[in-house]
Amino acid sequence: MEHRTLGQRYELVEQLGQGGMGTVYRAVDHRLRRTVAVKTLSAELALQQQFLARFQREAHAAAALNHPGVATVYDVGEDVVDGCAVPYLVMEYVEGRTLAQALGDGTLSAEQAVDAAGQVLEALRHSHGHGIVHRDIKPANVMLTRAGTAKVLDFGIAKALSELATRLTGTGVAVGTPAYLAPEQIEGRDTDHRTDLYAVGCLLYELLTDRPPYTGESPFSVMHQHLVREPVPPSRLRPGLPPGVDAVVLRALRKRREDRFADAAEMKAELDRAARMSTAPTMPAPAAAAPRAQADRPEPAETPRHDRAVTGSDRIRSLGRVVFRPTPEGMVALLGSALAVVVSRSEMIDTEHFPLAALLGGLAGCVLLLWSARLACAVAWAPVAEAVAVWSGFSRAELGWETRYVVIALLLGLVAGLCLTAGYQDGRSGGFALVAFWFTGLTSVWYFLDDLHKIGVFYVLLLGVCLALGTQTLKTRLADSRGPAVPAPDPAAR
Ligand SMILES: Nc1ncnc2c1ncn2[C@@H]1O[C@H](COP(=O)(O)OP(=O)(O)OP(=O)(O)O)[C@@H](O)[C@H]1O
Ligand SMILES: [Mg+2]
Repeated sequence: MEHRTLGQRYELVEQLGQGGMGTVYRAVDHRLRRTVAVKTLSAELALQQQFLARFQREAHAAAALNHPGVATVYDVGEDVVDGCAVPYLVMEYVEGRTLAQALGDGTLSAEQAVDAAGQVLEALRHSHGHGIVHRDIKPANVMLTRAGTAKVLDFGIAKALSELATRLTGTGVAVGTPAYLAPEQIEGRDTDHRTDLYAVGCLLYELLTDRPPYTGESPFSVMHQHLVREPVPPSRLRPGLPPGVDAVVLRALRKRREDRFADAAEMKAELDRAARMSTAPTMPAPAAAAPRAQADRPEPAETPRHDRAVTGSDRIRSLGRVVFRPTPEGMVALLGSALAVVVSRSEMIDTEHFPLAALLGGLAGCVLLLWSARLACAVAWAPVAEAVAVWSGFSRAELGWETRYVVIALLLGLVAGLCLTAGYQDGRSGGFALVAFWFTGLTSVWYFLDDLHKIGVFYVLLLGVCLALGTQTLKTRLADSRGPAVPAPDPAAR
């Protein structure tokens, strides 16, 4: 490469890489006689006058950052090369490799991944304290030196870019890597320091599992998943991961900013705690390349006593935690409880036990609502659905067995099976599917059986569904309680 000199000062020696905005070079600063990294902007961006002003302002703000975890911005300038303006940014030269390269090599241990994420959080704590949100935390923007120190690159640049996009498109179009975009960035809403915490959650997820939390065939599909899907817990992809680390990642990835960590310091403290509580076999031993990770990890014997005690008592507390929130599912459960009480007082099913079972269902629905809206839906709506099915039965008795009714019954049975599966699997809003299960399932049973058998099958189903869902809820609660300081994902929905 022919050596160019920018601003009569920075001699570009070697190209280090190329990104979306321009090219990065290793360069020599002839005035201060040191090696620096120079990022030149692509011609396309350089033509945008407003972007340049914004870019310079953000670069000046980023230059105020002084932290070992931040690649320091030294200078920003503009030169003319072949008659074209070339804006450039001069920053600290970092010798090492980016986390994207480390991911490509597949050489990071879980411990090194947690250590790197912790260092990124330290750097963010500093920048957020200066009112600077990064907005484009991703593996390509974090470098790892030979000594294991992480340095965050490109502070201030994503902000300038996103404001350019807003100006060009009239909307807060997301700028960044789809795999790491927070829901608020995708929706063009306000971003703040918690947007960076979401990206750190994505970063740690990928460092631990070798894939970002959401993957898809198109950027659109990935962005859609960021908005609506719950991530698969990293421990499912990397068995043996400490549950606390799992919980930290999942909390950072919450859709609502308020549900994430309050700030980088809190997330870092939680991550440190999770790493401390892990035992040797669950976290692979750090490679010799990361002495920092080793130095930072206290021996298991140093684990604070109260940390170990917390696990047991928190589990019990978590099981009894009241989580009622006015969600649509909760309202449906409440309605079901009210109807169950009405059914118990009416004479729709004239058997000895049913009115009492319906009354208990209604009352139990109200009580369970405090604990699990989904379980409350399942219990409260069961007698209501049974009453509806039996009441419909009177009209069928007059019509007799006709092929079309048998077909309808089979279809209803099939739909009921699908609803039950959906309700069982969907921890968020499975209550609706369970209500649908009761109606379709019991109506199907009504088509095939006489009154006496119907009520028997109903009791068996009620017991089976309650047992299955209750066990599942208990299991989820126990799993969540292993990360005591981290709330369970959307507990009201459970
Ligand atoms: N300060 C630096 N010191 C050493 N190498 C650097 C420095 N900054 C960037 N690099 C190298 O240059 C490469 C390109 O960086 P660049 O920021 O242009 O691309 P990117 O991060 O992949 O994309 P984006 O434009 O979205 O930030 C990096 O992957 C890294 O290898
Ligand atoms: Mg970059």
